[in-house]
This record gives sequence, C-alpha cells and structure tokens, in this order.
Amino acid sequence: MSFDYFLYKGVRFSPGSFSEEVLNFAENEFQVLDDDVYIVTYPKSGTNWMIEILSLIKEEGDPTWCNNVLIWLRSPWYETKEGQSQIKDVSRPRVLTSHLPYHIFAKSFFTSKAKIIYVMRNPKDIFVSLFHFSKIICHYKDPESFEDYLEDFLQGNLLYNSWFDHVKGWMQMRHNSNFFFITYEELKQDLRACVQRICKFIGKELDEAKIDLVVKHSSFKAMKENKMSNYSLATADFLDHTKGTFMRKGISGDWKNHFTVAQSEYFDKVYQEKMKDLNMNFFWEE
Ligand code: A3P
Repeated sequence: MSFDYFLYKGVRFSPGSFSEEVLNFAENEFQVLDDDVYIVTYPKSGTNWMIEILSLIKEEGDPTWCNNVLIWLRSPWYETKEGQSQIKDVSRPRVLTSHLPYHIFAKSFFTSKAKIIYVMRNPKDIFVSLFHFSKIICHYKDPESFEDYLEDFLQGNLLYNSWFDHVKGWMQMRHNSNFFFITYEELKQDLRACVQRICKFIGKELDEAKIDLVVKHSSFKAMKENKMSNYSLATADFLDHTKGTFMRKGISGDWKNHFTVAQSEYFDKVYQEKMKDLNMNFFWEE
C-alpha cells in the first residue's frame, strides 16, 4: 500500500481503519467493563491464536462459535473504526483485542477490574512474520527490502511504532494481578499447560476433557482449516490474498531461515541497548 502514516500522540497509524477521532475515542471515551478481558499484543505476536484460545475457553471447548463467526467479530480491535462498531454485538464477558501501546490504552481500563493477557514473541520471528504480512495487509506500507524494513522495525518507524517500546511500556504492569503475560514460544511448547494457566487467570474452571478440546481446536492446523479464523474471508481491499496467507508457518525460530549472521548480530546489539533497563529475560526459544 502507498500512503503516509499519521501520528497520534507520537504513535504511527495508517489511514482507513484509524483516525484521530477513532483513536481519541479509544483512549478517552471507550468504556471498559469490569468483566472484560483484553488481548494486548504487538502485531504478529500470536494475537489471533489467543483470540481462538479464549473463544474456545468461553465456549468450554465447543468449536461451533469459532466455526461460524469470524474471528475479528468474536474479539474486535477496539481502537479501529470497524472494531468500534462491531463491539456492540459482543456478548459478555467480552474478550477484546488491542495493539495499542500502554501510554494510549483506554483510560477507563486503569480504574476497572478488567484483565489483560499480553502475548509476546521473539521479535526476530515477529519481524519475519510482519515482513510477509505487510505485503498483503492494507494497514502497512509495502516493505521495500528485508534490509530496509529491518531498520524500520528496529527504529520503530512502523504502524504502532516500536516493538521495544511496546514491551517496555506494558511490562510496567507486570506485577499487577489483572495483568498476565505469556509468550508465543510457551504456547508452542506446551499449549495445554498454557490453557490451564489462562483459565486460572480469567477464573474459568474447565475439566480435563474440555481443556483437551480447547487445545485441539486452537492448533495451527485447525485454525488454518477454519475459514472463520484463517482470514480467507477478509475482503480483498483489506488483505491481498494473491500475495500470501495470514496462517503462514506458525513456527518458532523461522528468523533463522531469513536473517544473515550480520543481521542477527546487529539485531542483538540493538536489542541489548534498547532493553537494558528492563532487567527481564523472556522465554523465546523452544
Ligand atoms: P507466522 O507468520 O510466523 O506464521 P497475529 O495473530 O498476532 O497477527 O500473529 C500471526 C502469527 O501467528 C503468524 O505467524 C501465524 O501463522 C501465527 N499463528 C496463528 N495461529 C496460530 C496457531 N494456532 N499456532 C501457531 N501459530 C499461529
């Protein structure tokens, strides 16, 4: 796509799904409810996987809802124009989605009892996923080259700005009892144990058989085959299906197939520098 990002409080957004008015509503007027659960992520961290998991938990393992209702209608993005009109049809307890950085998240959240599940992923894999995705999705400018796009990612010159700032911003909440963070790599390594932890966090009790059903129906294979979850029904002006698919590989460590040694070392250097004050180690590798 060819357009210029605009800034809302210093954060880059693309025209179309976003505007000053829509973002201002999301930040200042949107009413968070005490029983809401928010999936918050930097794009390509496993957002839709978490939507599927939470949809299945809500339905106690029954896949009927997932098989019949589009994923973005089950858990709309509350900061987008489309999402804000879709939310009225979401039943409580609502599971809503956001990629917003901490400093412009809905103000009403911070005085509510609502919960956040923050999904993180190895940023090298995020970058590879994003590099492919930005060629097909209307919200991102087309990448010129892997090298140039890598620099844009490391400098935060993309939609929703910097991954580093996103993580550092949200990690300020890590000791709050209504904040739970989990990595894509943990989900890949032991989805069942993760589903159990998620159930505990949101206060949902499911027996072993229902947990098994959640795990079964949220697998990469199941989601790739489910037209309500695999984005094959997204309109062509939103997603160019001729250039790639949303359910791409679904693995950890794909960056090793794309980065040169020099690019990886450069990435590590920038990572060390930008994350040095956080004092946290993340579980990235399987
Ligand atoms: P890849 O491009 O590396 O395959 P998001 O939902 O935040 O946009 O993240 C999309 C990424 O999550 C894509 O990564 C997609 O394939 C992966 N993904 C989606 N559902 C998944 C699942 N059930 N299991 C593993 N990965 C999944």
